[in-house]
Amino acid sequence: MTTAHIGKPTNRVDGRAKVTGAAKYAAEYHVPDLVYGVVVSSAIAKGKITRIDAADALALDGVLQVFTHENAPRLPRSDRSDRDEIAPPGSPFRPLDDAEIKYSAQPVALVVATTFELARYAASLVRVGYERAVHATDLKEGRKEAYQPQPRELIPPVPKPRGQAEQAFANAAVQVEAEYLLPVEHHNPMEPFATTVVRDEDGKLTVYDKTQGVQNVRDYLCNVFGCSRDDLRVVSPFVGGAFGSGLRPQYQVFLAVLAARELKRSVRVTLTRQQMFSLGHRPTTWQRVALGAAPDGTLEAVIHEAIAETSRFEDYSEPVVHWSGLLYRCDNVTLDHQVAPLDLNTPCDMRAPGAAWGMYALECAMDELAAKVGIDPVELRLKNYAERDQHDDKPFSSKELRACYRQGAERFGWARRNPEPRSMREGDMLIGWGMAGGVWDASQIPAAAKAVLTANGKLTVSSATADIGTGTYTIMTQIAAETLGLPIEDVTFTLGDSSLPNAPVEGGSFTAASVGSAVKAVCQEVCGQLFQLARQIDDSPLADAELADVTFTGGHIRLNRDSSRAVSLTEVLRQGTLDTIEAETSAGPSPEREHYSSYSHSAVFTEVKVDQDLGTIHVTRVVSAVAGGRILNPKTARSQVLGGIVWGIGMALEEESVIDHTFGRFVNHNLAEYHVPVNADVHDIEVIFVEEHDEVVNPLGAKGLGEPGVIGVAAAVANAVFHATGTRVRDLPITLDKLL
Ligand code: MOS
Repeated sequence: MTTAHIGKPTNRVDGRAKVTGAAKYAAEYHVPDLVYGVVVSSAIAKGKITRIDAADALALDGVLQVFTHENAPRLPRSDRSDRDEIAPPGSPFRPLDDAEIKYSAQPVALVVATTFELARYAASLVRVGYERAVHATDLKEGRKEAYQPQPRELIPPVPKPRGQAEQAFANAAVQVEAEYLLPVEHHNPMEPFATTVVRDEDGKLTVYDKTQGVQNVRDYLCNVFGCSRDDLRVVSPFVGGAFGSGLRPQYQVFLAVLAARELKRSVRVTLTRQQMFSLGHRPTTWQRVALGAAPDGTLEAVIHEAIAETSRFEDYSEPVVHWSGLLYRCDNVTLDHQVAPLDLNTPCDMRAPGAAWGMYALECAMDELAAKVGIDPVELRLKNYAERDQHDDKPFSSKELRACYRQGAERFGWARRNPEPRSMREGDMLIGWGMAGGVWDASQIPAAAKAVLTANGKLTVSSATADIGTGTYTIMTQIAAETLGLPIEDVTFTLGDSSLPNAPVEGGSFTAASVGSAVKAVCQEVCGQLFQLARQIDDSPLADAELADVTFTGGHIRLNRDSSRAVSLTEVLRQGTLDTIEAETSAGPSPEREHYSSYSHSAVFTEVKVDQDLGTIHVTRVVSAVAGGRILNPKTARSQVLGGIVWGIGMALEEESVIDHTFGRFVNHNLAEYHVPVNADVHDIEVIFVEEHDEVVNPLGAKGLGEPGVIGVAAAVANAVFHATGTRVRDLPITLDKLL
């Protein structure tokens, strides 16, 4: 299919606004008389506040109020109304609700003053007395209380066992059994969480918030504060990264709105980098994987268990073990996922939640199996390739994973790998080559969009989705321009405003498919209206045509069989004496999807160089071959996968939020001590998009790429480290002390 815009490497339509600073973020909206809130965080992990002395803070000229649980307004509380659309089952935390401390760095007061500096100074003067209780923040302790979590919406339950996995494992000729302990990680987006609440004269609030879901935040605020949608609008046109941390409303938005309502003023609350470590995190997770195989490597048993932390007030769970019964063909599979309550904030979805950890364990275990059987890791995966989804007993709507393995291996030069560990070197450097696969859901959530075509031929399409750096603005503009046959410059896409047509949070890699399908559908409606009008105009060259006989291209409706017979869109509006043509519609998954399973896949190949004396590791080369359906924009798509790969390098070698269990708090809560990859850690990265056609998954054939890029990367690095050194480090991150 030839296209004008879809599939073209279009530059970001918001690129100029971003690099010139014209793009405004939540803390950059200024209004006269804005006041500033600074959060005071709990110094203990568990217990009660016995006393809050704010007298010194309040005595400062310009300090307006210190909100605490003692003076905050009593709002009706119900676990149901407090639950946002992403909330796991449980009783959501509400700031300043009572004296109880549930986790370290929990907000205990909000100091509001006329300047940010004054508020920050005043916050340092607030003295909080505590009665400590015994806390537990170590998974080793928590797992004694582990239980099956209540199911979470949007996340499939742990698949039921099939066959007799324990027995098949016990009888298998080749057995691999290993445990993995993965640390807490934090999202660490560049932009700290912030909210600016602008209050107009009538008391209506415009809430500029950093979020991945303006309507989720709006509904949460309306429920909690008992106000109507007419009184409160949430706006978030630009987000400086979020990676899942912005899926749920965070506490600064609650505090900012509370202060604005109480003080009847416009208020801004910005969190510090340290406070960013109190918002939820990728949970520390223990896993056990047991693989049983025939002597030739054919899988006979897969057992995958996980125990991950949750808070004491919500059952957070994620699909950690699901993939282990899906990615490979095996008739004996047992999967189990439990949660262990700890005195920490509820974990929070973080890029590829579940798969990031689960696929790490599975793909490392597969590497161990390949070594034990003595066959090539790619060969082992091809031998056990799943042609059907055995969980649901359905065919895949498309699955080009074989091509990922083949094309990735070829580009990487995998055939030249000597399988023997420690066999490849360059001076003092041990060279290791490792690989792993990746899989992620290709889902579609119902979403709506509106389109307005004006008499001058300009089109505006809108939906209450977000662009968290992924390229939403750009790909939606491309889809709209494609459908109506307009140049990119004549199309504007707007998002990030709760008053726009309904859209889900931007997450789960489902925005391209979900919002994109709505954008396509609404533009097709506009096409339909235009065509009807075009047939009716005087001496219409299309008078006897059907919609199927024409193409929308170059700002015209053209007859396919005779392209000289055409009408321009502006002419249609002019002759119809119309100022605008409008349509609004929603799109959801097709009934046909029910009969198929849809996933994106990838194969990642990495090279590491390990200094044999010092144990330092460099990831010198990565090739990732991704099958993600139709690629709407190779440029933004590549950026998504590149970012994911860099995350994977961080996950493998650097990232860890260290808890001091004596105090129950994160001690490396800053970007100096929480290590993420910097330029020096990132070398050659190549992304290949494997051609994949999917007529079923959604009308665009696109599967979404926000998350797949990270999946499998850490396993591929760990497997390369084993190949380089002969040492198998299973607990992340792989730091040099674990190698020496
Ligand atoms: Mo993603 S963790 O659904 O933002």
